Amino acid sequence: MSKIAVCPGSFDPVTYGHLDIIKRGANVFDEVHVCVLNNSSKNPLFTVEERCELLRQVTADIPNVKVESFKGLLVDYAKEKKANVILRGLRAVSDFEYEMQITSMNRILEENIETFFMMTNNQYSFLSSSIVKEVAKYGGDISELVPKAVQEALIEKFK
Ligand code: PNS
Repeated sequence: MSKIAVCPGSFDPVTYGHLDIIKRGANVFDEVHVCVLNNSSKNPLFTVEERCELLRQVTADIPNVKVESFKGLLVDYAKEKKANVILRGLRAVSDFEYEMQITSMNRILEENIETFFMMTNNQYSFLSSSIVKEVAKYGGDISELVPKAVQEALIEKFK
């Protein structure tokens, strides 16, 4: 039986931290479906299509990774993909409470889907899309934080 995982998030935009989790996930699972979903507590900078396109560009060299968006519940997307794993990255203790809330809710909605966490590489433990957008907005150097395509897209947005 194929091991299929869904790697969900806002990805507004994708960072090297996300990419680290996606790449390592692709080494563990047969298929990784990266899914851009709506987080109702966030006000995104990039459209869903833009976020998917950037994700596709930066994961183009990983054959078992697919990128899509979904309007609805994450567990419904996972069921559609026949995935029994949700893959999330954990950066620091501060992520724990938020992740526990999402994981518990998803388990109530669908008890057969397990959430797996991977610790983000230490090098990216401070990194978030929000902090990247903040630095990019004021013209700071983000070349160590996001792939080139994302860097260019951010520069264009804040022009
Ligand atoms: O990158 P984020 O913003 O931390 O990702 C959160 C996300 C998008 C995975 C979460 O908000 C989500 O799953 N949204 C889809 C709606 C849903 O399924 N909600 C119930 C679980 S919170």
